Amino acid sequence: MKKYLVSIFLLLFIFSSCGSSNDNGDSPDPSTDVRTLKIAPFKVGFAVDVNLLRSNTVYRQTVINEVNSLTAENAMKMGNLSSARNVYNWNDADYVVDFATKNDMRVHGHTLLWYRDVPQWVENFSGDRNAWIALMKEYIQTVVGRYKGKIAAWDVVNEAFEDDGQYRKTIWYRNIGAEYIDLAFQFAREADSSTLLFYNDYGMEYSAAKRTAITNLVNDMKSRNIPIDGIGLQMHIDMFRSKAYFTLAINMAASCNVKVHISELDVATNPDKDPKAKFTAEVALKQKTSYKAMAEALLAIPADQQYGLTIWGINDAYSWLTDNPDWGLPFDKDFKKKPAYDGLIEAFNK
Ligand code: G3I
Repeated sequence: MKKYLVSIFLLLFIFSSCGSSNDNGDSPDPSTDVRTLKIAPFKVGFAVDVNLLRSNTVYRQTVINEVNSLTAENAMKMGNLSSARNVYNWNDADYVVDFATKNDMRVHGHTLLWYRDVPQWVENFSGDRNAWIALMKEYIQTVVGRYKGKIAAWDVVNEAFEDDGQYRKTIWYRNIGAEYIDLAFQFAREADSSTLLFYNDYGMEYSAAKRTAITNLVNDMKSRNIPIDGIGLQMHIDMFRSKAYFTLAINMAASCNVKVHISELDVATNPDKDPKAKFTAEVALKQKTSYKAMAEALLAIPADQQYGLTIWGINDAYSWLTDNPDWGLPFDKDFKKKPAYDGLIEAFNK
């Protein structure tokens, strides 16, 4: 039996590493490149654009080949789900969930409460604190309840803090107070006892005040038995960001004894938005180093805390960064694997 397992492992290793970059770093011939990001010991995901998932066959096939987790880039945001109180359009969110289910992929729900993409009917709402709590509860429990058992985890609250560690004065904060966070997590838990509940934010990799605010929030919630299972670190970094910073952020999140999700990874190559910027071979290799280091930092925390790594898009033709101009993702505009992709594979193969 042991010989059988060893040969299977060797076959898997040869299979997954074949097509690796050769010694001078050239990526392999795409037609023979059978590598996949699914070799990682944790779930790897893409944030997907539902319209591209429906209409672009190469986009869709790349998703199927490469990942085992999906986040809807926009389809599950309040502004896209709810056009009036108790009026919902589920089509796009259902499509993502159905696609993931058909392809045996995990779904990560993004996001229940955010200060952006708040629909006009909520902006126009007026009522006392209890009325706002009732509105928030109704929305959260309608959405979480619809996907009960189908969505593995939710970003319950997204970006509740400013970079200086102060609470962001969101519509929820202004009308309910800081307790909106506790309530949101409790309402989500009541609607689905099986889904994991995450706090999601950016900036832990560069702001000590934000690192402190987020870890204090999570530790305090846990001390009061408010249900929370994980921290999402968005990690919209650039290739100049040092590994030390994002490793510190990941380790501080892990110190809260919760699951850690690298939830929105991209590595900008032109953070100063220089209109004359070019994606050179040198830039590609710097970007590769950042992708590899991020994966290594997640691999270094306890295995049971490694929730996963989600890349904020698939290829450079369809990224929120593209107009900068920028080339922040692991696939180029023609869906060819970049050195950034090789960096992830090298980290996963270690
Ligand atoms: O679909 C409409 C289209 O019909 C319309 O013609 C067009 C012009 O108004 O807008 C399109 O919607 C845009 C949508 O992206 C889809 O492209 C919205 O205006 C635009 O605001 C939206 O931007 C998204 C942004 O969040 C705000 O929701 C980005 O795609 C998305 O990548 C970005 O993702 C966020 C995470 O959710 C949270 N963390 C930060 C991250 C980057 O900002």
